[in-house]
Amino acid sequence: MSFSTAKLAVALGMTAAFAMAAPAWAAPTVVKFSHVVADGTPKGQGALKFKEVAEQLLPGEVEVQVFPNSQLFGDGKEMEALLLGDVHIIAPSLSKFDRYTPQLQLFDLPFLFNDIAAVDRFQASEEGQALLNSLQKHGLQGLAYWHNGTKQLSTNKDKLTRPEDVKGLKFRIQSSDVLENQFRALDANPQKLAFAEVYQALQTGVVDGQENTWSNIESQKFHEVQKTIANTDHGVIDYMVVTNRGWWEGLPQNIRDGLTQAMAAATEHSNAAAAELNEKARATIEGAGKAKIQELTPEDKDAWRAAMRPVWAKFEDKIGKDLISKAEEANKQ
Ligand code: LMR
Repeated sequence: MSFSTAKLAVALGMTAAFAMAAPAWAAPTVVKFSHVVADGTPKGQGALKFKEVAEQLLPGEVEVQVFPNSQLFGDGKEMEALLLGDVHIIAPSLSKFDRYTPQLQLFDLPFLFNDIAAVDRFQASEEGQALLNSLQKHGLQGLAYWHNGTKQLSTNKDKLTRPEDVKGLKFRIQSSDVLENQFRALDANPQKLAFAEVYQALQTGVVDGQENTWSNIESQKFHEVQKTIANTDHGVIDYMVVTNRGWWEGLPQNIRDGLTQAMAAATEHSNAAAAELNEKARATIEGAGKAKIQELTPEDKDAWRAAMRPVWAKFEDKIGKDLISKAEEANKQ
C-alpha cells in the first residue's frame, strides 16, 4: 500500500473493517511448523497429523506448512525465529529449554523415569501441566508434550557395556547442562552440537559417540557411522510443542479453537505411535547389520546408573527436590 492509499484507507475506516471480519476470499492464516527430525519419526508424524486435522477443521482458513529436518530452522535458531514470528510452532526436545526454565532440566536427569508411561503420568500431573506455562514470561506458550522415547548410547568402539568404556571419548550432546554433566561424570568429553550436524561429526570423527532414540538414530543413519549401540535406556527424549504467545493469543477465536483441537489429535496420534516407531527403527538398524546392538545385563545397567547418579545432586536445587520427588512418584503408579 502506498502512503497516500494508506491514508485514504484509514480515512475511509477500511483498516478497521478489514480487521473485524475476514472476507470469504481472504488468504488463509499460514501456520509454519518447523522441526529438526525426519517425517517418519514420532515428532515428524505428529506435525503432519496436526496439519491434516487443522486443515480439515478449518478448510480454507488455515494452511499449515511443515518444515522437517532443520530445513527452515535448526537448533539454536528455531527458538529465536519463534520469538521473532518467523515460525509459529516448534517442538524442541525438553533438553533444549534449560536457558528458559531450569525446572525443565528435570527431564534430563539420568535414569529418572522407568519408562515413557511414567513420563506421561508426570506430564499429565498438575506439576507437569504447570511447566507448559513456565515459558510465558519469555513470550512463549507450551501447547503439548509429545513423546519420542528412551535414549541409547552409541560409539565408534567395539566394546560398550560399562561406564569405563566411554572414558576419554567425545560425545555429541544437545544443548543441556545436565547432559554435559552426565558425560563429565563418565570422564567423557561432551560437545554441544545442533542435531543437523551430528551425522557429519560422527562420520568425520569430530565426536566418537552420541545418545539418542532408536528412531532418531535410524532416520539420521547414525548407525552407519557408529560401531556399537548399547541398549542403555538411560534417559528420555521428549518434546514440548511451543508457540509464540502473542501470535497465538492474537488469532481469531475460531482458529485458535480449531488449532487447539488439531493439537490434541496430533498429540494423541504421535504419542500412540512413538513406541512402535522406535521398535521399527531398532529392527531396521539390526537388519542393516552396520552397528552392533549391545544388550546390557542388570549389573551393567546398575554400573551406568551409579556412574551417572552424581549428576542429580548437582541440579537438585535448580530443579527443586519436590519436583524430582513428584517425577519419581510417577514411576510407582
Ligand atoms: C537431538 O538434538 O538429538 C534431538 O533433540 C532431536 C529431536 O528433536 O528429536
